[in-house]
Amino acid sequence: MPHSIPTLCGSLAGQPFTFNVKVHNAAYRAIGIDYTFVSFGADDAALAVQAIRTLGIRGMNVTMPHKQAVIAHLDALDETAREIGAVNTIDNRDGYLTGYNTDCTGAVRALEEVTALAGQRIALLGAGGAARAIAWGAKRAGAQVTVFNRTASRGEALARDFDIAFGGVLDDFRPGDFDGVVNATAAGFRAPDVNPLAGRQLQSHLFVMDAAFLPVRTKLVRDATAIGCRVVDGTRMLLHQFCGQIELYTGKPAPLDVMSIALLDEIARVEAGEARQCSTSEA
Ligand SMILES: NC(=O)c1ccc[n+]([C@@H]2O[C@H](COP(=O)([O-])OP(=O)(O)OC[C@H]3O[C@@H](n4cnc5c(N)ncnc54)[C@H](OP(=O)(O)O)[C@@H]3O)[C@@H](O)[C@H]2O)c1
Repeated sequence: MPHSIPTLCGSLAGQPFTFNVKVHNAAYRAIGIDYTFVSFGADDAALAVQAIRTLGIRGMNVTMPHKQAVIAHLDALDETAREIGAVNTIDNRDGYLTGYNTDCTGAVRALEEVTALAGQRIALLGAGGAARAIAWGAKRAGAQVTVFNRTASRGEALARDFDIAFGGVLDDFRPGDFDGVVNATAAGFRAPDVNPLAGRQLQSHLFVMDAAFLPVRTKLVRDATAIGCRVVDGTRMLLHQFCGQIELYTGKPAPLDVMSIALLDEIARVEAGEARQCSTSEA
């Protein structure tokens, strides 16, 4: 089978980005394995998958907009990717490409940092790709999931697909009916002053997870922390889904603490760069 020195892993995205590069490479160094991770920006999912085969790329993370488009070009899907209908990880074993979805295991492992999920009543805000992965993973872990979404038809479709409840638009969420709430809307991502919930919708008995990870402490995370909720920020979901990929590509346990430092450093570096750019353009 084709291969490279060092062994190459990567990510396939519309636009390349640095978070997975920094985290994966830090993990490979800590594990002591001769792998290098590169982020590829590419338009054509079919040609990109062909390149995995041609060059013997060991593992490929897949991000927007390619998570569905790669499916037709793989040899197999594991249950997570098949049921969710999206692939975020391609594992290349001797030229046989299997698609996985580690977003769902990432979300479950992140939530399990604050609670066991069996029997928990979870309100899931959002009905996009992240929400699908979280809904499937949380349901599989034994939680009772209810979806709320700005566009009701999209929320209803997700609820139907996974045989879970649809609760209405975000304003219909009543905290007293739930043990926890997970934000998988795009509200709050790169918008530090936006909380998708109104003040009356946060109560201290809830555990709260935000999938948004930029800023690390989103307004939802800050508001929930201030009233004493158990809180999980979006970096934990991201890190745990990276862990799933690293375990597949290397066969070794992922060094979560090292990865967390690499991710938080890179987020701080990106935010500082954006702040500098802002102040230059305002000057
Ligand atoms: N931590 C992680 O590992 C991880 C992984 C993947 C994604 N994410 C994060 O998860 C979030 C969603 O990503 P995605 O890929 O699922 O995006 P997506 O497929 O585009 O879905 C976006 C969702 O957000 C809703 N939405 C957008 N703007 C909103 C607003 N202003 N108010 C209320 N709802 C709004 C949309 O509602 P409509 O249906 O009404 O448009 C939809 O449900 C993003 O913040 C992303 O960064 C995190």
